Amino acid sequence: MASVPSLASTVQQRLADGLSAALPDAASADPLLRRSDRADFQANGILALAKQLKGNPRELATKVVEAIPANDVLKEIEVSGPGFLNITVTDSAIIETLAARAADARLGVPFNESAGTTVIDYAQPNVAKEMHVGHLRSAVIGAAMVEILEFTGETVVRRHHIGDWGTQFGMLIQFLIEHPHELDHSSEAEVSGEEAMSNLNRLYKASRALFDSDEEFKTRARARVVDLQAGDEETLALWQRFVDESKIYFYSVFDKLDMDIRDGDVVGESGYNDMLQETCRILEESGVAVRSEGALCVFFDDVKGPDGNPVPLIVQKSDGGFGYAATDLSAIRDRVQNLKATSLLYVVDARQSLHFKMVFETARRAGWLNDEVKAFQLAFGTVLGKDGKPFKTREGETVRLVDLLDEAIGRATEVVREKNNDKIALTEQEIVENGAQIGIGAVKYADLSTSAVRDYKFDLDQMVSLNGDTSVYIQYAYARIQSIKRNAGDAVPTAHPELELAPAERALGLHLDQFGAAVAEVAEEYAPHKLAAYLYQLASHLTAFYDQCPVLKADTQEQKENRLFLIDLTARTLHQGMALLGIRTPERL
Ligand code: ARG
Repeated sequence: MASVPSLASTVQQRLADGLSAALPDAASADPLLRRSDRADFQANGILALAKQLKGNPRELATKVVEAIPANDVLKEIEVSGPGFLNITVTDSAIIETLAARAADARLGVPFNESAGTTVIDYAQPNVAKEMHVGHLRSAVIGAAMVEILEFTGETVVRRHHIGDWGTQFGMLIQFLIEHPHELDHSSEAEVSGEEAMSNLNRLYKASRALFDSDEEFKTRARARVVDLQAGDEETLALWQRFVDESKIYFYSVFDKLDMDIRDGDVVGESGYNDMLQETCRILEESGVAVRSEGALCVFFDDVKGPDGNPVPLIVQKSDGGFGYAATDLSAIRDRVQNLKATSLLYVVDARQSLHFKMVFETARRAGWLNDEVKAFQLAFGTVLGKDGKPFKTREGETVRLVDLLDEAIGRATEVVREKNNDKIALTEQEIVENGAQIGIGAVKYADLSTSAVRDYKFDLDQMVSLNGDTSVYIQYAYARIQSIKRNAGDAVPTAHPELELAPAERALGLHLDQFGAAVAEVAEEYAPHKLAAYLYQLASHLTAFYDQCPVLKADTQEQKENRLFLIDLTARTLHQGMALLGIRTPERL
């Protein structure tokens, strides 16, 4: 597991050496290196430095270039414009760095030296309720962040903060007591997620209708809430049935999403019940929270309602009940004090941002969050229909997540079937498997490829398109490489640093070189969309490479091996990158 410094960082180091040799006083100045279309890299840092030193930037740049000792990485450094450096690296340096990456199972990606423990709160559906596209986003983005952070060496604890507590359970449980067979299963056989949800749905609707129309039932339901909170055994056992039934459904959806959700990581709102009282006591005794009209509240200078009056975070209601905030504050205590988190990451809808802002600020005042332990909401936007309005069915109801996934899989299977021919010769089983991997990949990629906080349109036609910024495009790029490798006969991917590279080979190689830096940035900024963009660019570089550089019909055996080496590393990078996003790459398409 050797991490491989990128060519970019090697170049940066050479420039920094040149800078400190030419100008010992400016040893700490940043050359500001970046990839460039003109040459391989451009460095702009000397401009600012010259300004600071009141010198002539071009002269200074020339001095720096002269101070860089001869080496086999830098082929040419040209001073251009007002004092930029245009830098071209040698072909051999590109292939040698890539060979070092290829020799490592982690593709040379370094571990984060300051890794800590992150608790990620994601994939948190609600008991007895259907999952919708909002839950899709939290699950998909959260799962990608889990993989990405773990890959950089972070210790990750997953928490699925499911909505499994609240007054609605009084109504549900009371209804089940009065209609005891409503959750019974139609057969002895294992119940399907679909059946579980339809049972719950029916029960939810029936109990809600009764609650709204029958005052006596309402009274009984309210009394049931009190029993539940008091820990009455019979009531708790019935509550548990709702949770278990819902989990059958959740797991079936996560399974369809090709997502590994572990039961031990599901710690719902109820998991913090034992802490609520103490959380309130600590907040009240420390003065962070105050009693206001009977309720325990935390006030903020910058949170006001439309009438200009402060809107507090209510930790305990005046009737003694605890809500969402008390639970989240207790969860923070648990995650910091018991799980020893150094970062808390919440993958939650942007519409809950005010809640988290107030919860985090409260936790800071209480000292649970501080410079050593930070909390961040990775807020995501709304999924819109093709018409640009929040995604609804024609009847105006929220779209069931399962229906969407099934449709995506159906569409993708059609695409795979159409592309299939005598040469690819996929069996029916492979068509179905690939269809599922492409359909689910398409949904995940569409979700991950725009910055999370932005809304996006759920457009299946676009998502399963073979052209453009889609997972299908990337998956086909991968499968194409695998096909070429299968047809390579006895030629083995082998790096040949002595060869001269074509422009498309250099461009592909320099992009491959950036993988480690891309992953580090994505992890640091919690920005999976940047990984999606990196992979899409990689697939695009590969397409350009194919157009210009024949692999199996290369001029010489060495060139063929070297090109096989380049595409093989590309395939491994695509595969690894897509895996970090939770997307599979079928071998044959
Ligand atoms: N169950 C909530 C919902 O469906 C999301 C929970 C978010 N996490 C949290 N710690 N509050 O909206």
